[in-house]
Amino acid sequence: MDGFDYDVVITNGICVTAADIAAYDIAIKQEKIVLLAPSGSLARVNARQIIDADGGYVTPGGVDCHVHLEEPAMFGRGTSSDTYETGTRSAIAGGCTAIVAFAPQTKQEPSLLKALEATHARARGNSYCDYGFHLLVGNPGEQALSEFAALTEHEGVTSLKIYMTYAALQLRDDQILSVLLEARRNRIFTMVHAENGDVLNWLTDQLEAKKLFSPKYHSHSRPPVLEAEATNRAIALSSLISNTPILLVHVSDPGATLRIREAQSNGQPIFAETCPQYLFLTRDDLDKPGFEGAKCVCSPPPRDKASQEVIWTGVRNGTFAVVSSDHCPFNYDDAERGKKTCIDDEHPVGRFKEIPNGIPGIETRLPLLFSSGKLPLTKFVEVTSTNPAKLYGLYPSKGSMIPGVSDADLVIWYPDSKLPNITLTNSMLHHATDYTPYEGRKIANWPRYTILRGRVVWDRDNGGVLGEKSFGRFLKRGPSSLDRMWETVDEQGEFDVTKL
Ligand SMILES: *[C@@H]1O[C@H](CO)[C@@H](O)[C@H](O)[C@H]1NC(C)=O
Ligand SMILES: *[C@@H]1O[C@H](CO)[C@@H](O)[C@H](O)[C@H]1NC(C)=O
Repeated sequence: MDGFDYDVVITNGICVTAADIAAYDIAIKQEKIVLLAPSGSLARVNARQIIDADGGYVTPGGVDCHVHLEEPAMFGRGTSSDTYETGTRSAIAGGCTAIVAFAPQTKQEPSLLKALEATHARARGNSYCDYGFHLLVGNPGEQALSEFAALTEHEGVTSLKIYMTYAALQLRDDQILSVLLEARRNRIFTMVHAENGDVLNWLTDQLEAKKLFSPKYHSHSRPPVLEAEATNRAIALSSLISNTPILLVHVSDPGATLRIREAQSNGQPIFAETCPQYLFLTRDDLDKPGFEGAKCVCSPPPRDKASQEVIWTGVRNGTFAVVSSDHCPFNYDDAERGKKTCIDDEHPVGRFKEIPNGIPGIETRLPLLFSSGKLPLTKFVEVTSTNPAKLYGLYPSKGSMIPGVSDADLVIWYPDSKLPNITLTNSMLHHATDYTPYEGRKIANWPRYTILRGRVVWDRDNGGVLGEKSFGRFLKRGPSSLDRMWETVDEQGEFDVTKL
């Protein structure tokens, strides 16, 4: 015994969960939240560390379930500017205590388990926050499909992602059906990148034939209808395999949103995610002088102002279960591995089709959303922590504050009046990327402390990052559970083609 009743006590905070906002104190012992007590009542207990939240909000640690780190180059010459170490360091500085990143299987690799092991090797001992993996399925052959059971039973991997675009990863509809059927049998939750790859390749050729190469044409090559069409198709394919639950990732388009909402209203287990880039950026951000617009090139591209409003409404009214970062960083000023690999003598403002797709955002997700003033705080917690934890089998050890049950993963924010607006600059951030697409924005609040399993890993005013890259732990995840999502699958029993 070390003589202390508690490891950490947080007093004088206003605690927010997905359900409640109330002032209470929190006591932490052996990595767990162990006691919630009336505000101020724990101020003088015998704890190793007492943190005065000073009237600031206290929220569960962020869970970011869409993160790309240190993936092998699959799309031309661009490679991620963040490793597990730098990406997760950035995560904790932005209040995120758990991530689910991708374990990519290339088209040449028949085994998912091999792809998983290679990803473990990159992450192990290199993560500041807790982490899990989704399999990114590029080659759903016989071997890969036969490994689904091992993923859930032994590896703690209960979700995967498939693509309807990108030459290196695009699956045909029959392959998608095979994945959904096997996912259904093994209770694996399937994430879908829905854009029609064949159509966008054709549009890209049309633009190139007109010698239109600059970054802004990235949006012209991927108009909203591509996303709406593929979303509709993904929903149809899920319905065919007895309503296997799927999640549409990074939704940006009102047409896709409407289709998702309709399917949900009809009782289909269709879930959706959006990202800060569709709430804070527009296509105008791609239309900057020279090559500058490449900083905001991601897929789907940011849309117009009216679309942004539809997406905000969808976050508020539950159409979107989660808001993730889709952190997928490439350096801007880097002609070897970054955005500028697509510039040559013939293409002085680059060539949009070869710009590495993706933007950084793991650290700015929570501060941007928290400061937006557009979400009730309970909704903020729901879409950034609680729902991601439920959807990806981490609840209630993550995403909640249940005494004796939840890990002591917490963010303490500044009290409203204590912090003048911060002007966001890339130099404040802890990733290894040379820009942020949100440079110069005013942000009203920032995580003051981030606590991971009872340890202060980020103290903005006293030392910054205090955590260590060996502290993050691999999370073996259980099955997804949100809104009784497997119920329709249960009702329909084994998939039977003769019943269609
Ligand atoms: C919820 O938001 C979506 C997207 O903005 C919209 O299509 C839908 O009509 C809204 N539903 C309700 C019930 O307000
Ligand atoms: C911070 O910025 C918001 C608008 O973004 C403004 O309404 C608010 O007054 C600013 N607060 C301070 C303390 O400057």
